[in-house]
Amino acid sequence: MKESIRIMSVVGARPNFMKIAPFTRAIAEHNATAEERQVPTIDHLLVHTGQHYDERMSASFFDALSIPRPDIDLEVGSGSHAEQVGHTMIAFENALREHRPDWVVVVGDVNATCACSITAKKEHIKVAHIEAGLRSGDREMPEEINRIVTDSLSDLLFTTDALADENLTKEGVPTDRVHCVGNIMIDTLEYCREQALSRSMEHILKENMLEGRTPPTLSSEPHGLMTLHRPSNVDQPAVLGPIVHFICNEWASDMPVIWPVHPRTRKNLQTFGLWNQVVDCESLILLEPVGYLEMLFLNAHAGIMLTDSGGLQEECCVLGTPCLTLRWNTERPMTLKEHGGVSMLVGNDASKIEQAYRETKGQSRRSFRPPLWDGSAACRIVEVLIAATECTK
Ligand code: UD1
Repeated sequence: MKESIRIMSVVGARPNFMKIAPFTRAIAEHNATAEERQVPTIDHLLVHTGQHYDERMSASFFDALSIPRPDIDLEVGSGSHAEQVGHTMIAFENALREHRPDWVVVVGDVNATCACSITAKKEHIKVAHIEAGLRSGDREMPEEINRIVTDSLSDLLFTTDALADENLTKEGVPTDRVHCVGNIMIDTLEYCREQALSRSMEHILKENMLEGRTPPTLSSEPHGLMTLHRPSNVDQPAVLGPIVHFICNEWASDMPVIWPVHPRTRKNLQTFGLWNQVVDCESLILLEPVGYLEMLFLNAHAGIMLTDSGGLQEECCVLGTPCLTLRWNTERPMTLKEHGGVSMLVGNDASKIEQAYRETKGQSRRSFRPPLWDGSAACRIVEVLIAATECTK
């Protein structure tokens, strides 16, 4: 028996942190009893590429989710896609040559996911992808390119559901590489649920108001919640302008709307001259990007969510928050109403959003939990990794 297996896992941007937290915990649990069970221990190294680097976009998640500090920080920072991917590959190659892991584990679909899987394969190191098989069918999305490249290179593909398995079968991925393990994001949701729900609205608003503004006092009526960051929604004034008009003139007149503003979106609102409109809208509560526990609290108490985030679509599904997804397609169809979920695709045309909003507001919460979205995905992943390493020794 090999005494230990070296795994290097990679995070780069905010949505990765919720996916790696349960994995690091599952490794610690595995190691605690490995000797007694006579199985190899895992020697784990965590790499942060540094794509997201702000306290609020990165470090706060390590604290809230008890993720160990990264062993290696590549500090690539922001830049164009080619700059991010290129700088990550150069720095990651050095890390691989120094540490020679048995496996590189990548999660999700950000630039770090793609850059590190390419680099690992060129160094003849096996790659495992957590959250494999998701496809939006939209190659305009940088994330779709990252998914396709990563999956085509991966030796092990960990999927969230049967629809993702079908996508991989259609692409000719050998079935013995694919393991449906459930949704690791839901591991984090279940692990944090109690702690998140013990937060207070008053405290969350006070700590996160944009530019230190005075927080309003909210009634017990449900609020609206929204996030927006995709280039397709926020990079053009002709798209973002009408969305902002709908939020300020219709939605926020019905209920208070809480909006943690992503750095990309804030920059664009300012550039396009829309910033004053949102700041002046009285029942629109603008927050800095909030932490994971705070977002979970806000989501669990929201009457309706408008978002273009993939992760929030999944969290709404399990929490039961009616969700309008501001995209024309999704790589997470399992969360849609037609598959039993709570989310509707409404695109980014303001009149369509408005119509869907009118149909949805006032709907009650209804939770939907797809098979294996049970909080134990990370343990299944660790078991498969150990078995796969033993087989290929
Ligand atoms: C990235 C991911 C996306 C994910 C999203 C969540 C890719 C291709 N995209 O998009 O899949 O849903 O993160 O946030 O990997 N910035 C800061 N502080 C930070 C990080 C970024 O101010 O800590 C600024 C950057 O300078 C840049 C902008 O925010 O101007 C966008 O960051 P970037 O990493 O390019 O992409 P995201 O839009 O965040």
